[in-house]
Amino acid sequence: MAKIAPSLLSADFADLKNEIKKVENGGADYLHLDVMDGIYVPNITFGAPVIKKIRRVTNIPFDVHLMIDRPERFIRDFVEAGADIITVHQEATIHLHRTIQEIKSYGKLAGVSLNPATPIESIEYILDDIDLVLIMTVNPGFGGQSFIGQMDRKIKSMRRIIDERNLDIILEVDGGVKLNNAKDILNWGADLLVVGSDIFNSENIENRVKEFKRL
Ligand code: DX5
Ligand code: ZN
Repeated sequence: MAKIAPSLLSADFADLKNEIKKVENGGADYLHLDVMDGIYVPNITFGAPVIKKIRRVTNIPFDVHLMIDRPERFIRDFVEAGADIITVHQEATIHLHRTIQEIKSYGKLAGVSLNPATPIESIEYILDDIDLVLIMTVNPGFGGQSFIGQMDRKIKSMRRIIDERNLDIILEVDGGVKLNNAKDILNWGADLLVVGSDIFNSENIENRVKEFKRL
């Protein structure tokens, strides 16, 4: 069964609690929380205080995607807010190895995300240290964008490396994932799909999550 992480970015923020209940009832595996700072990406969303409030209304594991410059400044805040997975961008932190070790020191899962133009080779020497690789299949910053076609090769390459080296790494794909391309993405080797607009903009959010889960 497909693992699905609905991205709250496309939810109705005036009705968050109910939106979360709907994806929970649909069987979502994680809640994907997109933190943006207006520097690393050209958009601003929410930070640790908001996540801490959301933590009170659901038990779904929190998959926190930090699209912020120098995320090492805030790791502790997101741990205290209730994050289960903390993913930083390879491009946003100079001492990536150190940042990963910090996340792990709190007993949380450490993820690294790669922008579309960033090669897999850039994380070659930390693959043994991380729990998750998040392949961006759009340029980060906004929901509702189209999947960048050539990312299929990147997903397949990452899958091959994980299998060949027998790594304990979740392969997550984020951006432009829809019901009509999700099956392909899973076949290329993704373990976990982030879905924003195609879940929260649908007529029946709960059923939409169920449809993804059935893939
Ligand atoms: C984009 C975010 C995504 C976004 C995906 O920068 O990282 O998680 O919510 O949205 P969709 O699924 O609409 O492309
Ligand atoms: Zn995301």
